[in-house]
Amino acid sequence: MAFKNMADIAHIIDGKAFALSLRETITDQVPRFVEAAGRKPGLAVVLVGDDPASQVYVGSKGKATIAAGMNSFEHRLAADTSQHTLIELIKRLNNDDAVDGILVQLPLPKTLNEQEIIAHIDPDKDVDGLHIINAGRLVSGQKAMVPCTPLGCQILLKDYLGDLSGLNAVVLGRSILVGKPMAQLLLNENCTVTMAHSRTKDLATVVRSADIVVAAVGRPQMIKGDWLKEGAVVIDVGINRLAPTDSAPKGKLVGDVDTDGAMPHVKAITPVPGGVGPMTIACLLRNTLVAAHRRNNMDDPIL
Ligand code: GUN
Repeated sequence: MAFKNMADIAHIIDGKAFALSLRETITDQVPRFVEAAGRKPGLAVVLVGDDPASQVYVGSKGKATIAAGMNSFEHRLAADTSQHTLIELIKRLNNDDAVDGILVQLPLPKTLNEQEIIAHIDPDKDVDGLHIINAGRLVSGQKAMVPCTPLGCQILLKDYLGDLSGLNAVVLGRSILVGKPMAQLLLNENCTVTMAHSRTKDLATVVRSADIVVAAVGRPQMIKGDWLKEGAVVIDVGINRLAPTDSAPKGKLVGDVDTDGAMPHVKAITPVPGGVGPMTIACLLRNTLVAAHRRNNMDDPIL
């Protein structure tokens, strides 16, 4: 990768604008599906409990689904919903022909067994890509449903950098929702991938080896500017709310990277908010449209 001239100004990767244009492309493709299938694509979102952040996310997902010309089916269940009731709902959604995608918003209340619930989702409707069948398909290079956030990061990286072959990528965080699928996607792009996490020794040195950094640790501004290689491209997945202050009474939203500290060093970086977040929703719509096409034995839409 070209060494960054210190006089260069870091490029801000505008995930919000990119997501808007991806959503337009998806919306343009919906009528072709409606004509062929005689119905709209449908996404069912299940929310258990009253976590305020999850309520906001689920509301945004529903609105975006309808705006794209698809059907949105929202199931909001009480926090004390039983494992059995939730599994029965998933089975009903699996058998409902109007539903192409099923998303169970995470985290679930601690009383529920997340893995068992995800295992009941029909893998072909698993628009979150969390079912072990989809994880296995991704690892073995087969057509898979890919988790929305890492898919959004991959799309942004390829749009900005083009070919990723041979680049050193460091993924910080090893969740099933982001870190693990992200590492696999970068490996599929022929990157040399290092996964770092809370037990990694000398994290700063590991991060300094990276041409591409994907930060998904959930710790506000943990990755410091002087950890980064000159000219690195940084994708900040974190969305953390700082304690309220006089100038930000609701608490400022920040990523996992110290953006201001990173700017003099990096070639490009995603902002928080307005970077990866909007791409997650756009990719959810993409996965829903793809699932709808595959379930109707149609070729994948061109996106
Ligand atoms: N919670 C935070 N992000 C996500 C996501 O992408 N999918 C689900 N199911 N839950 C989430």
